[in-house]
Amino acid sequence: MTSAGTGLILGIESSCDETAVALVQQGRTVLADVVLSQANEHAAWGGVVPEIAGRGHLRDILPAIKSCLQKSEVDPADLDAIAVTARPGLMGSLLVGVTAAKALAWSWNKPLVDVHHIQAHAYAALMALPDWNFPYITLIASGGHTSLYQTDSPLSHTLLGCTRDDAAGEALDKAAAMLDLGYPGGPSIEKAAADGNPKTFHFKRPLLAPDSLEFSFSGLKTALLYKLKGPGGKRKDPTQLEPGYLADLSASFEQAVMETLAKKCLRACQQTGIQQILVGGGVARNQRLRRILPQLATPEGITTTFAAPEACTDNATMIAGLGYALFQSGHQADLHLDVSAGG
Ligand code: KG4
Ligand code: ZN
Repeated sequence: MTSAGTGLILGIESSCDETAVALVQQGRTVLADVVLSQANEHAAWGGVVPEIAGRGHLRDILPAIKSCLQKSEVDPADLDAIAVTARPGLMGSLLVGVTAAKALAWSWNKPLVDVHHIQAHAYAALMALPDWNFPYITLIASGGHTSLYQTDSPLSHTLLGCTRDDAAGEALDKAAAMLDLGYPGGPSIEKAAADGNPKTFHFKRPLLAPDSLEFSFSGLKTALLYKLKGPGGKRKDPTQLEPGYLADLSASFEQAVMETLAKKCLRACQQTGIQQILVGGGVARNQRLRRILPQLATPEGITTTFAAPEACTDNATMIAGLGYALFQSGHQADLHLDVSAGG
């Protein structure tokens, strides 16, 4: 264990299209939280363009660090460590955050802590709980990942199942592109679905084999394409759809994705005997998922905890938070720290 310090950790996140910097004390108290999103820059392309993302991080990283330090009013001399996302993510994007973190660690003479992005999403859900009572079943559903874990500590996550193809957020992003609803797809489908009837269109729930904890969303996407093309596949332009049709189609698709995620969480609980579910990642912002999961889980005596909405999508409070837990456990990186696209 590291001897008692200030507990102040500066977190840096740049794995995808958010440049984020946060200052968190003792893994819990958020003193400053800066997120500069590039979503508008990627919208025209219907998804994140790695080259644009890397350049955006380069432009935004120093202003984000400066703004975070100003907001928190913390003197860098008082920091215990600098935590940074080193994997998984887009290589060019990760490199910007890691290079900045190394430069700060070197010039301020502070320890550097490398953080795993998905485990940090799980930490964001843990931050929503006043006390921890391990183990938990953790679902991380984002644009890049859909994975179920057994979580035995903030640092111990055993993979139970993940997606065989598209991540849940990726399926929503691609579906929104098909429906011409705009990027990012999760929020735009949620908005379009608000007044829709989720029972209008039937989408088969991709639950796979009865005991499977894996996910597969690509079939749902294809099913949406057929429904969108209409009888005989004749319809060419989604903008020809009646507003009610689009709302019902969006609601039915969203319902199928969220119900599948919820049912797999329950399946993991049944298989492990664990009665507590944590949910994080961008898709955990979804209001329908936040309704469906407790509806299914509560009657089974299973509790559900979602990360705070602002902590679901990419941010650096979760990086600083998990960085604190890692630092406390004695984990540190050196200035040769490398990035990795995969987990
Ligand atoms: O965690 P995140 O910010 O980045 C990754 O690590 O991938 O997640 C982004 C994903 C996108 O696919 C986006 O469409 C989805 O989260 N998302 C949502 C909502 N807000 C963001 N999905 C469903 N409902 C939402 N409200
Ligand atoms: Zn993420």
